Amino acid sequence: MARPVGILMVCLGNICRSPMAEGVLRARLIEAGLGEQVRVDSAATGSSHIGHPPDERAIACALKHGIDISAQRARRLALEDFDEFDVILCADRTILHDARIRKPRISHAQVELLLEWSGVGKKDVPDPYYGNARDFEQAFRLVDAAANGIVERVRQGRL
Ligand code: 4NP
Repeated sequence: MARPVGILMVCLGNICRSPMAEGVLRARLIEAGLGEQVRVDSAATGSSHIGHPPDERAIACALKHGIDISAQRARRLALEDFDEFDVILCADRTILHDARIRKPRISHAQVELLLEWSGVGKKDVPDPYYGNARDFEQAFRLVDAAANGIVERVRQGRL
């Protein structure tokens, strides 16, 4: 079988938006029977939460939707990621800017905005870190919509 496509979700801390995006995308791909064809991971542009589990509000929000993200641990976006992943999807425009600056010239990875690339039609997933449970719910809904868009793209081979 062909090598799985690699999709990496990136946000600032890798404790709120990108862990929810990773968890929900993996779940939606498995539901669609595409779990073997895509490798999903997530990472941070910042370094303040490296090694930490997702924020407890992100864990609770995902769990409400039937997705357990508690085993994830935050890690920093690494140079190797630009070689190992085909698509690097950024939670907002600041993250996109930072990730594109770090992208080595020889990398063929697509570095894009998560919501644009997945066809959701908005630009940024607002950062819920300084917000409340409603903000986490809003972020979850956006990354879930993105996951469904990505499943469609994978189905159609639009990678
Ligand atoms: P994330 O949220 O980028 O969605 O994981 C944040 C997590 C931590 C911080 C900011 C945003 N922080 O400032 O520590």
